[in-house]
Parts: sequence; structure tokens; C-alpha cells
Amino acid sequence: MLCLGIESSCDETGLALVEDGRLVEAVLATQADMHGLFGGVVPELASREHYRFMGPLFDELMRRSGRSPAELDVVAVSRGPGLLGALLVGVAFAKGLSLGTGARLVGVNHLHAHLLAAGLEGRLAFPALGLLVSGGHTCIYRMDSPEAFTALGRTLDDAAGEAFDKVAKMLGLPYPGGRLLDGLARRGRADAALFPRPYMDNDNLDFSFSGLKTAVGQYVAAHPDVLEFARPLRHADDAPAALCDLCASFNLAVVDTLCLKLERALRRHDDVRHLVLAGGVAANSLLRARLEMLARQHGCELRMPSPALCTDNAAMVAYAGWHLAAAGWEHGLDCEAVPRGRALPHDMRRVRPAG
Ligand code: KG4
Ligand code: ZN
Repeated sequence: MLCLGIESSCDETGLALVEDGRLVEAVLATQADMHGLFGGVVPELASREHYRFMGPLFDELMRRSGRSPAELDVVAVSRGPGLLGALLVGVAFAKGLSLGTGARLVGVNHLHAHLLAAGLEGRLAFPALGLLVSGGHTCIYRMDSPEAFTALGRTLDDAAGEAFDKVAKMLGLPYPGGRLLDGLARRGRADAALFPRPYMDNDNLDFSFSGLKTAVGQYVAAHPDVLEFARPLRHADDAPAALCDLCASFNLAVVDTLCLKLERALRRHDDVRHLVLAGGVAANSLLRARLEMLARQHGCELRMPSPALCTDNAAMVAYAGWHLAAAGWEHGLDCEAVPRGRALPHDMRRVRPAG
């Protein structure tokens, strides 16, 4: 079964082919540099760029893979959550392709796709617990199978990556600042008492990072000397010690917060076999090391997709769509794009038996 995956939920336009659970070919156009000029993703520009890239990228994918549109069995598309205008470009393209080729349409939950991506590189054992941490999302899921996800917790305000990016911006670092901030943190000495571990005084698995961002803002206002360095700072080598120490303390506060809630989830779901980490923030060195430890302590194994499968990509969408199609699901042409903050409806239908 040949499944095309389409990704356009934020600032990456991606298309990929998965056949019988294996990646055939993938193409990706990133808009990061353009949005970097504005210090964050500009939704209207993102939609226009997806529209500009989608057709040529599809042609490129067919050319590189040596396959033709008529060979597609399934067209899977990220239908949400994400930026609505951006999602609409992918969903409309998918519907057109499905109509034109007769391939089945499958709308994919972008968050589920992130967590399934590890399955492209090695077998995932279920039940699994998934932590997705990206620029747009922070959530914990229980995964009972590739098609059965239960949301256990999510952020109530900023995503973890967003907190990294906003703090980086506050410090005058280039956007998106998470990676550089991580690099600076590795050179600094963390003070565990400097910033709070927010939203712990409850018994749920949700997160809230906006207060942490405010705490960093207050610290910087009281210690303006940490901002005294030559801009633009692009390499961690050029950073003063005070800045590295601040980054280390902030980094530790975010990672501690994620780990405390994840440990709570692991205690409540002691039957899980794999712990899955996905999303752009999965590149964070401290987070990876701490989750390795957490997984060992709870008798499960950590699975992390390689970096190209951690950030937004279409291979994960094609793979998730292939699982759904193989289990007999499809969408009608009424499949909607769903923006961030709204729950995805359970509106898949069983494929009609042939004949
Ligand atoms: O998954 P992704 O591409 O996010 C979305 O577009 O939603 O991940 C990008 C996010 C950005 O917020 C970026 O700053 C963050 O992941 N990030 C990191 C690191 N590398 C990327 N955050 C912390 N530490 C890193 N090493
Ligand atoms: Zn994503």
C-alpha cells in the first residue's frame, strides 16, 4: 500500500511516500529563515509559501521516487492542530489529489504523527507513553496502538519550545533560539533555586510555561548586566558566563518541569513498554539524558526519532496515514482542517468492503 503524506501545519512544507510501513522518499521546504526575519511564524506568509511550494514539491517527489500519482493508494494529510490557513493548503491539495487519482483520503492528527515517527526507525511496543515537545505543542499521550491515543496532559499556555524561543528573544538571541539556548546552557552552571517549577501544585498532567517566562523577564530586569554581550550572538563560544548560567537555570527549570509530570504519568501507567520523545525540543541534550534515566527507572525503553523525524516532516504523516488506512479507516471530502486549541473530531469512517 503506497501512501503519500502531506505536511503544512506550520512553517515546513513536506511531502513523503511510505510503502507498507517503510519510507520511500521525502521532500521538504522550510520557511524558517523567512519567519526568522519577523522573530516568529507569520501565519499569512506561511500559507502563501505552502501554496507556492506544494505543487513543485509534489512533482519533485514523483520524479525522485520514480512513482506516478496513479500509483497512490492513500493520500494522508496533517489536518490539525496547526495554523488554520497553513493546514487548509495541505488539506485542499490532498482532497484534489484524492479526487483526481481515486486514492483514499486520510486526515492525520499531526501530534499523533509526531509520536509515531519513531516507528519508522524501529518497532514501537505498545502500550507506550509519548511526550511531544515542539514550538507549537507540549503534550503527554498514552498510546495503546498506532490508532488509539489518549491525551493525558497538555500545556495550558506556551509550548515548551515557545518558552525557549520567547526567553531566547528576551535575551537577544536569534530566532528560533531553543538550540542556541541549549548550547549556552551546557556551558553554564544551573542554579536550581533561581526559577520556579511551574504548575506542580495539582494532581494533573498539564503544563503552564508562561509564568516561567515572566520569572526570567523579572530576573533580566533586575540584572541587566546579563544582556551585555555583542550582538548578534550566533555561537555559544562568544557568550559571557553570566548569560550561560542564566540559560542553564532556565533550561533546568523547563526540563525538571517536563520530567516531574512525565514521572507522574509513568507512575500512573506502569504497564507502558516504550517511552517516546518527539518534537523539536527532543533535540535538547539535558532532556534526552534525563528521559533516558527516567525510562530506565520505570522499566521501559526510550524511543526518540532521529532529528529529521523529530521536527515537522511529511514522513511521519505518511506513516501515521498508512497505519490508519491499513486498519481500514478513511475520511470523506468533508474532512476539516482543525486549528490549534480545538479538539479533532472522531469523523473517520470504515472503508466500504469491495464489491
Ligand atoms: O518540532 P518543531 O519544528 O516545532 C514546531 O515548528 O512546532 O521544533 C522547533 C522548536 C523551536 O521552538 C526550537 O527552539 C526548539 O524546537 N528547539 C529546542 C532545541 N532545538 C530546537 N529547544 C530546546 N533545546 C534544543 N536543543
Ligand atoms: Zn509539529
